[in-house]
Amino acid sequence: EGAVALAGAAETLADLRDRLDGFEGCQLKATATNLCLTDGNPGARVLFIGEAPGAQEDRQGLPFVGPSGKLLDAMLASIGLDRHGEDADRAALISNTVFWRPPGNRTPTPQETALCLPFVERLIEIVHPRVLVCVGGPSAKSLLGQHQGITRLRGKWFDYATPRMAAPIPAMALYHPAYLLRSPAMKRDAWRDLLMLKARLDEA
Ligand code: URA
Repeated sequence: EGAVALAGAAETLADLRDRLDGFEGCQLKATATNLCLTDGNPGARVLFIGEAPGAQEDRQGLPFVGPSGKLLDAMLASIGLDRHGEDADRAALISNTVFWRPPGNRTPTPQETALCLPFVERLIEIVHPRVLVCVGGPSAKSLLGQHQGITRLRGKWFDYATPRMAAPIPAMALYHPAYLLRSPAMKRDAWRDLLMLKARLDEA
C-alpha cells in the first residue's frame, strides 16, 4: 500500500504509529533501531518538526533527545514551554520530517523525505496545532514549499495547509539547534524568533 493511502486513513496518533510500524516503503527503517514518531504532549498548541533522528533518538525511539534536543528544550523553556507540560498552553509536541535515523546521520534523500511526507502531513492534520514550527532549513523547505535558505525564511509567518484542512495554520521556521550549537552568534536572531512565536501563542 502506498504512503499516501496508508497515512491518509489514520485517524489517531496511535493509528498513525501502527501504520508506520507496518510501512515498508522507506528503506531508512531497515537500518534504524526504532521508529521516532513524536515526543511531548499531543494536545499541545504548538508542533515542532525537525529534520531526522540522530543516534540517541534512534536508541530511545524519541525525537530530539540528544544534544540538539537539550538545546531545543532550553529554547522552549525560554518562552515558557515544556514538551512534557500537562497544560496544553505550555506544552509542545515534537516530530521530524523523517521518522527513522539515516545511517551515519547523513542527510535524508529527497526520496526518503517524500516517502515520509504523507505521514508528516497526516500528523499535522491529526494534531491540528495552533502554530507549526519548522526546525531548520530542510524542514522549512519540505513543509513550507520554499526554496530560500533558512536565513531568509526565519522571522516570518507562513500559512501551512493541506487539502483536508479547513483553514491554514500559521507556520514559521527556526534555526536548527544543531546549527546554533556550531554558530552561537546566531542565537540572537533565534531569540527574536522565539519571542515572535511566544507572541503568536499568547494570542492563539
Ligand atoms: N535533529 C533533528 O532534526 N531531529 C532530531 O530528532 C534530532 C536531531
